[in-house]
Amino acid sequence: MAHLAHYREAHPLPFVITHWINLVAMILLIISGFNIHFPFWAAFEGIARGIHMFFAFVLVLNCIVRVILSFFVKSAPTGGTRRTDTDIKSWLPQTDNRHQAGAWVKYYLFLKKDHPLSAKLGVPQKLSYLLIPPLILIMAYTGLCLWGPTMNAPPFAAGLNLVGGAMMMRIIHYFLMYVFICFMFIHVYLANVEGTAPTKLMFFRREHGGLVYDPDKHAIIGEDELDEKH
Ligand code: HEM
Ligand code: HEM
Repeated sequence: MAHLAHYREAHPLPFVITHWINLVAMILLIISGFNIHFPFWAAFEGIARGIHMFFAFVLVLNCIVRVILSFFVKSAPTGGTRRTDTDIKSWLPQTDNRHQAGAWVKYYLFLKKDHPLSAKLGVPQKLSYLLIPPLILIMAYTGLCLWGPTMNAPPFAAGLNLVGGAMMMRIIHYFLMYVFICFMFIHVYLANVEGTAPTKLMFFRREHGGLVYDPDKHAIIGEDELDEKH
């Protein structure tokens, strides 16, 4: 299946940076979190908690910055175009996604070979990315219920009371980590299943040619042979 051209405007620099920060923070949180749970590396035990708390704040702050920037930074709402609009519009329902949910789900369930030509983000992709900020906030809340300096503050003490104590909260925090691990495996697989162009663009701002799309006409209007210039 031919693809829409991958232009930098789809992922402007601020979002490339917030995505890199997400990746680094998430990996360090998972490694240090595993070390808190199973202290498999004794020498690392002391600093694992320090690393965990530091990157916990980085992750939460980065998430808040990413969400706020989506109201100010412009990005291309579809692939195949350099035309941009406020980024938040790529996260709301778009004409280019209309009536596609069923077809996307069939594609993900291997019931259909091709997926619809959609906006920059397909329906399930958009929904799963939108779940990341609330999940990060839940992780932060359950984490702060376990952190010495905050666990006795009323909002966190109430949470501990509600679930039945710190042991239960640790179990919740621990198992929620697997939601992120599952998301990351599926995310990396889907991001690269049709070629590495999306990843090269997201991480290194490397463009790739393909079909050119007109977001007003909702139609393909040509092809960009960008590849040949590289
Ligand atoms: C976002 C803010 C976060 C905060 C404030 C936070 C805080 C904490 C704290 C204080 C602990 C130590 C618990 C204890 O001593 O019993 C802990 C443990 C842990 N954290 Fe986090 N964390 C956060 C995010 C994450 C994320 C995103 C992951 C992984 C995706 C993660 C995975 C873990 C794991 C696996 C443990 C060990 C839990 C256990 O003892 O079984 N945390 N976290
Ligand atoms: C090696 C690991 C990763 C790869 C290869 C990767 C790849 C990508 C690609 C290619 C896109 C653009 C999708 C498109 O335009 O169709 C994207 C977007 C996104 N990724 Fe990742 N990603 C990785 C890690 C992560 C992690 C750890 C998180 C967060 C937990 C994450 C969250 C997101 C989110 C929320 C978006 C939406 C766009 C944005 O944030 O501006 N990714 N990723």
